[in-house]
Amino acid sequence: MESLKKQIEYAAKKARTVAVITGAGMSKESGIPTFRGPEGLWKNFRAEELATPEAFRKDPKLVWEWYEWRRQIVLKAEPHEGHKSLAEMEDYFDDFLLITQNVDGLHPRAGSRQLIEIHGSIHRTRCNTCSHKMDLPPVALEIPVKCERCGELSRPDVVWFGESYDEELLGRSLEFLSRADMVWIIGSSGMVSVPVYLAAHASKNGAFLVDLNPEEAEFSRYCDINFRGTAGADLPRIWSGIKEALS
Ligand code: APR
Repeated sequence: MESLKKQIEYAAKKARTVAVITGAGMSKESGIPTFRGPEGLWKNFRAEELATPEAFRKDPKLVWEWYEWRRQIVLKAEPHEGHKSLAEMEDYFDDFLLITQNVDGLHPRAGSRQLIEIHGSIHRTRCNTCSHKMDLPPVALEIPVKCERCGELSRPDVVWFGESYDEELLGRSLEFLSRADMVWIIGSSGMVSVPVYLAAHASKNGAFLVDLNPEEAEFSRYCDINFRGTAGADLPRIWSGIKEALS
C-alpha cells in the first residue's frame, strides 16, 4: 500500500486539473448506510424500489418515509476527515472539481465549494406541479411534503432511477473531466452508470485514475491505481502525504 500511496503522491505533484467523483462509500464512516451494502435495506425495500417516479406515484407517503428516515440519519451525521481532506484539496490545485452522487450534503458541510451534487440533495424538495424548490428545515417533516407555493405534492429534489440528469450539471462535469489530468473515484460501486462513464471519458483523455474503495468497482479496470482502502481512514493519510510532497 505504501508504494501505491507514493505513486498517488507522484501523480498529484504533476497534476494541475483534478476531479474527484464520490459515492455512498464516502459517507459510510459518517454513519450513513450505502445503497448496495447489507445495510442498504429499509423495511426490506431496496433503494431501486423506492427511488423511482413510479414508486412515488403509487405511494408518496412510503417514499417520503424512506427519505425522511435517511434525512434524519444525515442530520445527525458529521462529515469525517476524508470529507475535510477533499475540501482542503480545492486550494492545492490550479483547477479542482468534486462531483458527488451523494445527496446527503456532507461535502458542502465539510467546506467543499467547487462541487456538483449530480444526484441533487435530500435537503431540498421540488414541487411535482409548479416545480417550486424548497430547502428543508433540519427538523422532522410532516409527510408527504406539500409545496409552500401551490399546496400540491412536493418530492425530494434528487435524480431517481429512470430519470435523466440535469443537463447543465452533466455538461459541466463532462467538460471538466475531458481536461482533467487526475481523477479520483471514491466510495462508488459504479452500479449507476455515470461515474463509470465519467471515469472512462477522463481515462480516454489521458487522465490518471485513482479508485479508492475497499472493494473492486465497475470502473476499477479503467484505473491506474486501485487503492483498497476507506474514505474516512485512508484518504486523510494519502492526502497528508500529498500535502507534504507538494510543500
Ligand atoms: N470508504 C470508501 N468506500 C466504501 C466504504 C468506505 N468506508 N465502505 C463501502 N465503500 C464502497 C463499497 O465497496 C461500494 O463500492 O462504497 C461503494 C458504495 O456503493 P453503492 O452503495 O452502490 O453506492 P453508489 O456507488 O454511490 O451508488 C450510486 O446509486 O442508489 C443509487 O442514487 C444512488 O447515488 C447512488 C447511486
